[in-house]
Parts: sequence; C-alpha cells; structure tokens
Amino acid sequence: MEKFVVAVDGPAGSGKSTISKIIAKRYGLTYLDTGAMYRMIALKVLKEGADLERVESIERVLSESKIDIDGEKFFLDGEDVSIDIRSREVTAIVSQVAAVKSVREKLVEMQRKIGQGKRVILDGRDIGTVVFPNADLKIFLVASPEERASRRLKDYESKGQEAEFYSVLEEIKKRDKIDSTRKESPLKKATDAVELDTSGMTIEEVCDEISKMVDSRI
Ligand code: CDP
Repeated sequence: MEKFVVAVDGPAGSGKSTISKIIAKRYGLTYLDTGAMYRMIALKVLKEGADLERVESIERVLSESKIDIDGEKFFLDGEDVSIDIRSREVTAIVSQVAAVKSVREKLVEMQRKIGQGKRVILDGRDIGTVVFPNADLKIFLVASPEERASRRLKDYESKGQEAEFYSVLEEIKKRDKIDSTRKESPLKKATDAVELDTSGMTIEEVCDEISKMVDSRI
C-alpha cells in the first residue's frame, strides 16, 4: 500500500494518543503525536521565562527552538524532553502557546513534511481540518468531560504525579475552551470525519471500531 493518512482529532483525554499508537502498530503506520510538538514550545516558554501574554516573546522562543522527533522521542535543542513535556506546568499553558498563529504555521509545516507520501496516523486538534484535509480516514473522538478527567487523573497517578479530580476536570474544560474558540484552526470536527463517543468504551472496543473503518478504506 502506498500513502495512507489517518487523522485523529478530539479534545483532551478523548483517547487519541492511546488509540493512535495501537492502530499504528496494528497496520504498520508511522505515528505522529502533534500535541507533543506544541508541548515542546510551551516547555521552552517556561524554561526561558518568556511572557505568555506577549506574542513576540513566544515567537522569539519559537525562532530559537530546534525540534527533532524520533518516533515517540522528542528532542528540544538536542535534549530528550519526552517526559518533561507531559508535566502539569506545561499542560497548564500549552493551549495559550498553541493559539499563536506563527507557532501553528511552523509546526503544521513540519507535520506535513513528516507525513507526506507515507503511511501515517497523526493525532491532534486540526489534523483533518487543516494539516491533512485530504486524509484517507478522519476520526473525531469525544467523551464526556468527567470521563476524560478521570482518565487523565489515572495517567497522572500512574506517573506518581499528585492530582485531584476537580482540578483536572477544570484544567480539561479550560483547555477545551481555548482550543475550540481560538481564531487559528480551532478544534472542530471535519465535515467528513467519523465521530466516535468513547465514553464507557474500553480501549479494545474503540480500536476494534477504528480497525473496521481502516479495513474498509484500505
Ligand atoms: O494529550 P492531550 O489531549 O492532553 O493534549 P495534546 O494532544 O498533548 O495537545 C496539547 C495541546 O496542544 C492541546 O490542548 C492544544 O492546545 C494543542 N494542540 C493543537 O493546538 N493542535 C494540535 N494538532 C495538537 C495539539
């Protein structure tokens, strides 16, 4: 099979990355976690103590950042930051950084280069709408905010990070709001995407549903 692009979009905690990794393995696709790229710029904003409220400060950080990706390993200026980009500090500001037009332009260009002509699955917020509007399969994953918060809480606990349900729920709702109301490529379902509500579904069940969709398009 030649090029084949699967676009997986949806809000925080809807299961995009977990599902995309499994589907990638099952079908031998390259997986690209585009959220990790926005997280790298957010991490550097924190490291540099840049002013989040000033677009110029974020743009300066962007122009001084060297991003390299090797599978699921993410390197910022040569340093492996795969773990650091998942911290709650990064999570708290990433949506503000991702709303900046020039940040999106640079990262979207990289995403297209990585995916072009390959067999890939990408997850994010704007993959089916902006990055690969001609994707072979577009999936939009949703789940209730409460379910997404409890999944995220489990993630934090498994990493030994302290968290409390209501603050995680608030964090998720805040991020959803910024992501879906921003001017530049907001989070939204592409008109030709298949929506799947994963509330109450196991990972296995979601993957089986998606596998049926992939099979029908290959
Ligand atoms: O995994 P989680 O749902 O927490 O988020 P993520 O995929 O790591 O993405 C982190 C943030 O990056 C999102 O809340 C968005 O603000 C931004 N993002 C984006 O704007 N566009 C993408 N294609 C991917 C992520």
